[in-house]
Amino acid sequence: MAWDLSGKVAFVTGAGSGIGRAVALNLAREGVAVAVADIRKANAEAVAAEIEEGGGKVLTLELDVSDSSQVNAAVAKTRAELGPIDYLANIAGIGGNALVHEISDEDWIRMISVHLNGTFFCTRAILPEMLERGSGGIACISSLHAQKGQPGAAHYSAAKAGIIGFIRAVAREVADKGIRINGIAPGPIDTPLWRGDMKGDELERHIENRTRPELVPLNRLGQPQDIADTMMWLFSGKSSYVTGQIIPVNGGELMV
Ligand SMILES: NC(=O)c1ccc[n+]([C@@H]2O[C@H](COP(=O)([O-])OP(=O)(O)OC[C@H]3O[C@@H](n4cnc5c(N)ncnc54)[C@H](O)[C@@H]3O)[C@@H](O)[C@H]2O)c1
Repeated sequence: MAWDLSGKVAFVTGAGSGIGRAVALNLAREGVAVAVADIRKANAEAVAAEIEEGGGKVLTLELDVSDSSQVNAAVAKTRAELGPIDYLANIAGIGGNALVHEISDEDWIRMISVHLNGTFFCTRAILPEMLERGSGGIACISSLHAQKGQPGAAHYSAAKAGIIGFIRAVAREVADKGIRINGIAPGPIDTPLWRGDMKGDELERHIENRTRPELVPLNRLGQPQDIADTMMWLFSGKSSYVTGQIIPVNGGELMV
């Protein structure tokens, strides 16, 4: 129990895969009861089963974070079954590649809806109970692409940059109420989203090229655990003087 979070309750979106899965498992190992929320029910159930096997307390939620009525219902269910929520991890996300003049209305709106609306809907649903109790931690996943700009992903870069503005505004609103909100801006992290359809030699070549030391000084892909460990620190009392920050976890690719 390195982080002293035992007995708390967390709501983790996108918990069925990649970074969200690593965060959910980390929290459960620390004795936190975890609501594992994901649009892909089977994946959420698989992560919940892993947590149960380890003796953890878990609730599985099939949830599309871009739908505020689903979010409100999922939060109410979590409160009823696990208790008041202490930590919110806004992680659910999708990718997409298209030049800006080729992005369809539908793809633009979906990108903003999942990342930015989803982060807002979950935060809005959970914050009142944190305010009432005068404590709570929120962590959101932004991206290196919000900071650097990613050609071929203007919608993704814009959605992730929106999350940064959101974090900073909310951080100032709630700082004197015992609540902290921060973000993490990951570089390339080895997850199903990052790999896409690549496999075999193509994947190996891409990893080598994407992580070459002149681009990524630490010369490797990030792992979901790198992000999950940073999030544990953000939720813990060890980061008690940190709010409104975007923590870069990017192998040194961008130094700001
Ligand atoms: N992998 C990277 O290199 C990287 C870098 C920077 C930021 N990120 C961000 O990290 C987060 C996690 O991504 P990942 O790489 O672990 O990908 P992933 O695909 O492994 O996991 C994303 C999860 O979000 C879920 N999801 C998608 N849309 C949803 C919705 N509407 N409602 C609820 N759940 C939904 C998916 O089902 C999936 O389980 C995303 O926000 C992503 O943009 C990833």
